[in-house]
Amino acid sequence: MPNPHVFICGTSGGGKSVALKTLTARNIATTGCGAFFIDVEGEYTGLTKMLGGKVIKIRQGESAGINPFELEPDTKGNKQFLNILDKVAEIRGLLGTICRNYQSRTLNGTEITEIEIIVNQLYAEKRNYK
Ligand SMILES: Nc1ncnc2c1ncn2[C@@H]1O[C@H](COP(=O)(O)OP(=O)(O)OP(=O)(O)O)[C@@H](O)[C@H]1O
Ligand SMILES: [Mg+2]
Repeated sequence: MPNPHVFICGTSGGGKSVALKTLTARNIATTGCGAFFIDVEGEYTGLTKMLGGKVIKIRQGESAGINPFELEPDTKGNKQFLNILDKVAEIRGLLGTICRNYQSRTLNGTEITEIEIIVNQLYAEKRNYK
């Protein structure tokens, strides 16, 4: 109870998937909160569609629908705010990971600074549109 984590384990065919699907569907219906599945076997496709969700296929040759730049408002007390600083750090981390995996090197100081300036500018421009 002290934190929101849960670990479901059990024998094969013991009811783990049914338990998780039931918990998720109930949670969405009663609290309206969202749920995300990383679903390698496509086991949650039916449930996701039934609950009005979207199935995003990530595989080679298929255009995926995840936008790492998407900025969700954070909530503090009863106020909502956009945490651009955290988002910029997240994007810097993501680009650093891509650079490490595809170029076997880390980002240098100039690149990190440029990423921060450009991403901040992009969000500032978008904010001015609204
Ligand atoms: N509470 C329950 N009451 C009745 N039948 C159940 C219940 N929970 C699960 N079942 C049935 O048991 C079978 C196996 O359940 P489930 O697929 O959830 O198991 P699992 O632990 O996820 O299995 P696996 O390890 O293969 O992923 C299913 O046919 C399901 O309908
Ligand atoms: Mg299962």
